[in-house]
Amino acid sequence: MASTNQILTITEARLRTSRILPRALYEYIEGGSEDETTLAGNESAFRSLTLRPRMGVDVEPNLATTVLGSPVAMPLLLAPAGMVQLVHPDGAVGVARAADAAGTIAVLSRTAMCPPEEVARRSHGPHWFQITSTGGRDVVKRLIARAADAGFTGLVVTLDGPPAGNREADLRNRVAPPARITTGLVARFAAQALTRPRWTVRTLAAARSQRAAMSGTMQTLSSGAMRTSARFTWADIEWLKSEWPGQLLVKGVLTGADAIAARNAGADAIIVSNHGGRALDGVPATIAVLPEIVAAVGKSSEVLVDGGIRRASSVAKALCLGARAVLIGRPFLYGLACAGQAGVERILEIFRAELVRTMKLLGCPDVAALDGRWLWLQPATTCSPLCPNQT
Ligand SMILES: Cc1cc2nc3c(=O)[nH]c(=O)nc-3n(C[C@H](O)[C@H](O)[C@H](O)COP(=O)(O)O)c2cc1C
Repeated sequence: MASTNQILTITEARLRTSRILPRALYEYIEGGSEDETTLAGNESAFRSLTLRPRMGVDVEPNLATTVLGSPVAMPLLLAPAGMVQLVHPDGAVGVARAADAAGTIAVLSRTAMCPPEEVARRSHGPHWFQITSTGGRDVVKRLIARAADAGFTGLVVTLDGPPAGNREADLRNRVAPPARITTGLVARFAAQALTRPRWTVRTLAAARSQRAAMSGTMQTLSSGAMRTSARFTWADIEWLKSEWPGQLLVKGVLTGADAIAARNAGADAIIVSNHGGRALDGVPATIAVLPEIVAAVGKSSEVLVDGGIRRASSVAKALCLGARAVLIGRPFLYGLACAGQAGVERILEIFRAELVRTMKLLGCPDVAALDGRWLWLQPATTCSPLCPNQT
């Protein structure tokens, strides 16, 4: 296997991933819902923002910050993602360990195919767990109690499903989060697996070794998954706040009014997200709605954002518009597919190194100093209303 150091960009990691994974699994990661308008918009909206650097200063930038009081070495976290165990046997534990190594936080998805106890036992944390309403309050209550007992401190409540977005490639490929890896599951990818020997060998080995270890443990995680369920309401968020002993983040907010409602229901932080363009197609790019949400909640809640972040310059732009930190989804999955935990570490190192360079070229000494004054909006020659105090 090629050294992870040979991966220089997220785009390269994506290309390698397309050669390693069976097509159906690659399409599960890569795809968005329906016409993928929102998916495309997430990335292109970052491109339409332009940075406003200062000359005549030489800085050694500080990237460290806190998110809900937890120190992180850089303002970039790993978003929850389902089926990571199928992407690489290092799975959710490998992702959590990579986050440990980079001094950041990985959010464990309910459908990551790995129990919270396992992640807590084999990585340092801080650990955050993600939940959907699927299965109803009884199932949710059991799940979050397990996560809390395992030492998870943050609960990320995903609001933008069920139902899942209309991802037609997944429907065609019959891909949906399973409870655990089985040889039968690998066989379902059989035709494609023949042309993806590296993935097939490592996944079959994982299927054999996990059969004993994982059976049973995962059943509660996905029980109820086959039943459709109602979406979380603000009343459910209040209920979750009373049940969960740690901090509560809501994910999937796209308007200022909903951010206020979430805060009033007890959310400690808001994650501006459109599920990476995988939920409702046609909603705006997250970076486009971030300013509305930051303006709505002011300093009363931390605001995080995800969707379409493939370069550290996008991280800087999000912070300029008021995000406390960002999350990445697909980029770390590419790293995982390429080289397991080491691949995720490589992706995080690419972002870290790019962010240092971006901050130096901006002439900005600290991520905490990034605000609207470091941005122009289109057209690049016009000062934006976001930066009235530009000097
Ligand atoms: C393969 C995949 C699986 C995902 N699974 C979940 C999930 O289980 N729960 C959730 O809240 N979001 C899930 N997401 C959405 C991510 O948490 C995140 O919002 C999104 O990936 C960010 O966009 P990006 O991929 O462009 O960085 C998933 C995303 C992908 C790509």
